[in-house]
Amino acid sequence: MKALILSGGKGTRLRPLTYTGAKQLVPVMNKPILWYGIENIVASGVTDIGIIISPETGDEIRALTGNGERFGARISYILQESPAGLAHAVKTAQPFLGESPFLMYLGDNLIQDQLHTFIEKFKQNHLDALILLKHVNNPTAFGVAKLDSQGRILQLVEKPKEPPSNLALVGIYFFSPQIHQAISAIRPSQRGELEITDAIQQLIHHSQSVEACELLGWWLDTGKKDDLLEANRILLDTSLFASALCFENSKSHITGRVKVGEDTQIIQSTIRGPVVIGENCRIENCFIGPYSSIGDNVTLVNAEIDHSVVLEGATIENIDCRIVDSVVGRRAHLIAMPKRPKALRFMIGDDCQIELT
Ligand code: TTP
Repeated sequence: MKALILSGGKGTRLRPLTYTGAKQLVPVMNKPILWYGIENIVASGVTDIGIIISPETGDEIRALTGNGERFGARISYILQESPAGLAHAVKTAQPFLGESPFLMYLGDNLIQDQLHTFIEKFKQNHLDALILLKHVNNPTAFGVAKLDSQGRILQLVEKPKEPPSNLALVGIYFFSPQIHQAISAIRPSQRGELEITDAIQQLIHHSQSVEACELLGWWLDTGKKDDLLEANRILLDTSLFASALCFENSKSHITGRVKVGEDTQIIQSTIRGPVVIGENCRIENCFIGPYSSIGDNVTLVNAEIDHSVVLEGATIENIDCRIVDSVVGRRAHLIAMPKRPKALRFMIGDDCQIELT
């Protein structure tokens, strides 16, 4: 069994972060989203991994993730010239996949469940496709499955206006080599993409064995800012086991699960976990509230932050009200004069969102 991780795409919904970097490398709890997927795949026993990359962000993904050694895997990079759809990505990867069955993992998805139980079901039932489903409140935003009374898949619809169920397709699929033939029989959809849902529909149409499994744990698709904050919250809640630390000499007060990186100074600050803070940061006269992740080399002075993600190298100083539910990009500067500002001076990139509430 091989694995194919899709890490190309446009990432329009996570702009402006995706103007300067790959969305799959945006950190959740200070670790790139993509790496959680790789770790889950390797834990299931699959170590031959192909990663689809785009011309724009491929080099960055390759440089940071490497040849797979750090994960105990072998990683090959496959260039997809344009983001022409999930099925197009599989087509592009055909020389890597050969005649092997494979699991396909969308690089911006995170799941709580381990993958090995699904792999066993896929193998034992000799399936041509196994798809994963999850109940959602807003099915119009997803690929949705219509099932019969026995739970068999009748139809898959991409972002339906009138959804036949609230079972969304999770971005993880298991395929036999039959999928390549199905992909060669489909045409681009109305939005101009080769859709994987259409290829699976082909398999169903030709009575090949397609089954579905419902996910038990959480599933997060980190395509938008609020999804990213939610992923950060859930991972800090479930996976941060650091214990409270005490910085007596710097008059700081740290409670709950707080992880602090090397060479980080915390001076006269209050931190309430779960919080993760990277290396080489300066946190002075600040409050950092629960569910916040602060990247490496961040400077926070005279600021209050809660339920937010601050990326590497950002500086926030003298902000007179609490920053909440926010994502601050790499090397961004958010600085006010020490007294209450009388004017605001901005240099804001395209597609930024600033709410003065
Ligand atoms: P999407 O989130 O569907 O697409 P996108 O990355 O272009 O994002 P947006 O909708 O915000 O513009 O893609 C899911 C994953 O699959 C993501 O990791 C990118 C990847 N992908 C490819 O590798 N190749 C493709 O052709 C497409 C469409 C997506």
